[in-house]
Amino acid sequence: MRQGRLTTNQKDALSNAHENKFAHYQEIVSTRKNRQAILEIGFGDGRALLQQAIANPDIDFIGVEVYPPGVGQLLCQCLLHNVKNLFVFHGDVESLLAQTILPTWSRVQIYFPDPWHKKRHKKRRLISEPFIKQLEMILSRDSQLHILTDWDDYADHIELVMSASKKFKKKAQNPKLEREKTKYELRALKLGHKIHEFLYVID
Ligand SMILES: C[S@@+](CC[C@H](N)C(=O)[O-])C[C@H]1O[C@@H](n2cnc3c(N)ncnc32)[C@H](O)[C@@H]1O
Repeated sequence: MRQGRLTTNQKDALSNAHENKFAHYQEIVSTRKNRQAILEIGFGDGRALLQQAIANPDIDFIGVEVYPPGVGQLLCQCLLHNVKNLFVFHGDVESLLAQTILPTWSRVQIYFPDPWHKKRHKKRRLISEPFIKQLEMILSRDSQLHILTDWDDYADHIELVMSASKKFKKKAQNPKLEREKTKYELRALKLGHKIHEFLYVID
């Protein structure tokens, strides 16, 4: 796992910034029952997620990321902008989903999951039948799954895995949901890559 170098501000935010951590969300979840909750898996530097949270103060956003500088950066930005509806889980999504206190998610966002393009690494891809089954268990009717990738081969893989799901139905290909472009996406666009966008919904 990449560790990366942390700035002093990022280190401080990782140790403090309690109000923007998922542990805090678990403490206050009973007070937020009437709010939608959106999960983003692998938010990278978190800039796009931060903008989404600022633009939608009535929705709670939970971001999960393994990369420490990304987590530190987003926590710093939450403090700087006094954002109260964004909560960060530092770790693997598997550890987050194993938590006993979880909200009812209205949407799961997976933007540019690591492509693992070498044939021998493909089994490491996040989108897999077991993972989709796990999502099916924690999501309820009408919950959405929004996925973006710039890898044609990963897009084919997503179609294949999702077509095996009995619960997710494809709502749209290229639904063009209003959102900020992510860091990875801007780089992909500069390289001339096509962006594949998928929206599924639990039936
Ligand atoms: C290709 S990057 C895309 C980052 C960001 N979504 C963007 O579009 O700029 C994939 C990100 O997913 C994170 N990631 C990979 N596997 C993960 C996991 N199991 N749990 C949480 N984050 C994960 C990586 O650390 C990385 O930051």
